[in-house]
Amino acid sequence: MITKQQAEAFGAIGTPFYFYDMDLLRRTLAEFQAQARHYGYRGHYALKANAEPRILEAICEAGLGADCVSGGEVALALKSGFAPEDIVMAGVGKTDREILTALEARIGCLNCESVPELKVVNDLAAGLGLKARIALRVNPGVDAHTHSYISTGLTENKFGIGPNAFQEVVDLLPHCPALELIGLHVHVGSQITEMPVFARTCRKLGEIQLWFHGQGIEFQHLDLGGGLGVNYQDPEAEPVPDFKAWFETISRNLPVRPGQVVHVEPGRSLTAQCGHLVSRVTYVKAGRDRQFAILDAGMNDLIRPALYQASHSIENLSSEEPAASYDIVGPVCESSDCWAHQHKIAACHRGDLLAIHSAGAYGQTMAMHYNQREPAPAVYSEDLKI
Ligand code: LLP
Repeated sequence: MITKQQAEAFGAIGTPFYFYDMDLLRRTLAEFQAQARHYGYRGHYALKANAEPRILEAICEAGLGADCVSGGEVALALKSGFAPEDIVMAGVGKTDREILTALEARIGCLNCESVPELKVVNDLAAGLGLKARIALRVNPGVDAHTHSYISTGLTENKFGIGPNAFQEVVDLLPHCPALELIGLHVHVGSQITEMPVFARTCRKLGEIQLWFHGQGIEFQHLDLGGGLGVNYQDPEAEPVPDFKAWFETISRNLPVRPGQVVHVEPGRSLTAQCGHLVSRVTYVKAGRDRQFAILDAGMNDLIRPALYQASHSIENLSSEEPAASYDIVGPVCESSDCWAHQHKIAACHRGDLLAIHSAGAYGQTMAMHYNQREPAPAVYSEDLKI
């Protein structure tokens, strides 16, 4: 929630900008860690959700590890203070350079996504005279019941090693002396709001683990990936996601073997609700059959509505007038640059400040400079002059 005082302080700041409520971030991290400790789970934060330095600093301070998907993210995690052994790296198309970066940094685990990748990691590790700690990222064929662009656990998705290749992995491993297999990893999608999806994923991972066990292969850790969804419709009703329900579901459905550690890789659930994209109304324009509220924030700042038909709750911070209906749009030269159609919101005027909520995950990290637009900067609650 943005307080009245904060909204007043926004008046002096050029728009658009990302506003981060650092108290909410810290509360979210504390709740995550309290629940994780209770269940004995280990969290690696998915940097792709938000990689702003102050956010990473807070997450590192809270004691989480880092989940990366590129050499750039590994470098950033290291620079942000994450210990190498607390960094894991996934990615379906890791280049040799990225694998070398990870190996040379001695990161905790490389989550390998294919048989050819296992061979390359083995060869590169052998060349460095190292043993690469790896996990197998498997594709369990579980439907995440989310937008198809962010589903990753189905046969048609490019991610992970499918059951068709398990035997090949087992046959290959004895020929890969530079690999140390330590984990089994899965991530079936993002913005998952149905606990039964996680339950099915856990049971499926249990079956896969049992199959490998039958082949004489044991894992030190099971990594369930990320995916816990947040409440975009009504963020104030659920500012901190229900980590307890997530972990309870995992603990009820995942057959953990003695001595095994469970890892998770939350991204969105840690950072989405603490971030707001703050924008000004540039024009209110009367169309033939509707009114347009035209903002100075566009799809280049937050691409989720244009890319995934995502809807974010929007609040007029400047007006308490009765609601009117608008197509709320951005300034970018694309008709997909639309925040909401026929949306009821307190009557808008030129200069009003609007907040697009739940923008702390996959907002700034996915921003682009289309139309040569300047990037929206970050503003932190603790820096506001109140
Ligand atoms: N682990 C792996 C291997 C992943 O691929 C992802 C996200 C995560 C963890 C973190 O998932 P989360 O807890 O954030 O759901 N840009 C999209 C989301 C893409 C997610 C990609 N992978 C969006 O804005 O909805």
